[in-house]
Amino acid sequence: MKTKSYYACQTCGYTTPRWLGRCPTCEEWNSLIEKEETDPTESKSSLATIRESFLKKTSTWTTLEDSQKNKASAYQRLHTGIAELDRVLGGGLVPDSFVLLGGDPGIGKSTLILQVANGLINNQNELKLLYISGEESVEQIALRANRLQIHHQNRFFLASETELEPVFEIIKELKPQVLFMDSLQTFSTQSISSAPGNAAQLREVTARLMTLAKSAGICIWMVGHVTKDGAIAGPKMVEHMVDTVLYFEGDGTQDYRLLRTVKNRFGSTQELGVFEMTGQGLKEILNPSSFFLSERKEPTVGTTITVSLEGTRPIFVELQALVIPSGLAMPRRTAVGIDHTKISLLTAILERHLRLPLSQKDVFFNVSGGLKLSEPASDLAAIAAIWSSHTEKTFPLNCVFMGEVGLTGEVRTISQLELRLQEAKKLGFKTVILPHTSNKLLDQYKDDLKFIQISNVSQISKILA
Ligand code: TYD
Ligand code: MG
Repeated sequence: MKTKSYYACQTCGYTTPRWLGRCPTCEEWNSLIEKEETDPTESKSSLATIRESFLKKTSTWTTLEDSQKNKASAYQRLHTGIAELDRVLGGGLVPDSFVLLGGDPGIGKSTLILQVANGLINNQNELKLLYISGEESVEQIALRANRLQIHHQNRFFLASETELEPVFEIIKELKPQVLFMDSLQTFSTQSISSAPGNAAQLREVTARLMTLAKSAGICIWMVGHVTKDGAIAGPKMVEHMVDTVLYFEGDGTQDYRLLRTVKNRFGSTQELGVFEMTGQGLKEILNPSSFFLSERKEPTVGTTITVSLEGTRPIFVELQALVIPSGLAMPRRTAVGIDHTKISLLTAILERHLRLPLSQKDVFFNVSGGLKLSEPASDLAAIAAIWSSHTEKTFPLNCVFMGEVGLTGEVRTISQLELRLQEAKKLGFKTVILPHTSNKLLDQYKDDLKFIQISNVSQISKILA
């Protein structure tokens, strides 16, 4: 039989009879690969069978009320015993969910999932867990478990596999409720001929495991590698398919790690978990502000403190600015941990409303501790840090800035002020610089905190140490 060939895009699945350098639908370059057309009655692509099984599942219907009754008990979240992680997940692990955990090599992904496994076993009596590694041998996993002092011989199973088919056999036999797989790029399925790590493989492996999670009610944790730009390697579609995407990050030189949600079908994506890598694995940091604030004994030029709301939790961070004469025609605006266009904008506001001659100056900006700030509430602190570095004047110790700054220099109110004030009091701050706000709220804190209310950045010199 003569077979015809066609070209399929590995990123979006678009097909064409002719080869093209760039896919017209997803605009990816060099993503088309040649495929042979097979007789559709002979072998169905497994993606098609997955779709069919989904269709079969959804072709029965139920009322919302019934499904809520039936599912209420099945959807009791599993507690991982790691409070930081439970919070990031939106209150624990959802039983038939698929969680993708991305991060740089060596950041501690395998360590984290081993500790999750340990916590799940300790907190749920009946739970059976399976850990499949495509990267390490069973002995290596056992060694790490020893180092982390995890000992559960009866309910925690390990296997070293790279193909999905034997993994499915193991699952049939053991019937685990939670499956850990490390890592996505090492697994492949026999139904596709391309190599592991290839876009088509990643998509197929994810699709098949997703069906497994939903049909057998297994919770799956999948580790994923990230590319140079920090995204999970492979087509974006993989992230669209799964329920939850977590990123595990750190700045390489320090021991703390940040766990953030970028997608969560069962909770907020604003939450941030903070951990420290120690000799005995990851430890939660329940008071992260103490980590991001350096202990200063006296006021320092160019530094301010702000409070950023990460999900439901206010975190205090130190901002640092350095303003120096520039020899360049286009002075530099360099920022780490905050959008550099934001720094250009705030610098322009200072130039216009405080008449600071910053157009001949380089401005370097840094958010200490590797945190990334996106909240406008830190505008005022950022402006104050730049102003302080330029004028070489300092602000009082134990003072925190909160406020959004508009282009006209006005300082605007921010959300969740009470939450931030509560935390400021708890951490022992003495002075709060903030926009004009209702005195009723401030009255509650007046015994512990001194308030300096400003309505425009031009009043910044009011706050000097
Ligand atoms: P690992 O979990 O293997 O990272 P990933 O799976 O993301 O590649 O962690 C590797 C690093 O963590 C390694 O450099 C050693 C360090 N580590 C500790 O510091 N303490 C520990 O208890 C463990 C298990 C690892
Ligand atoms: Mg690993």
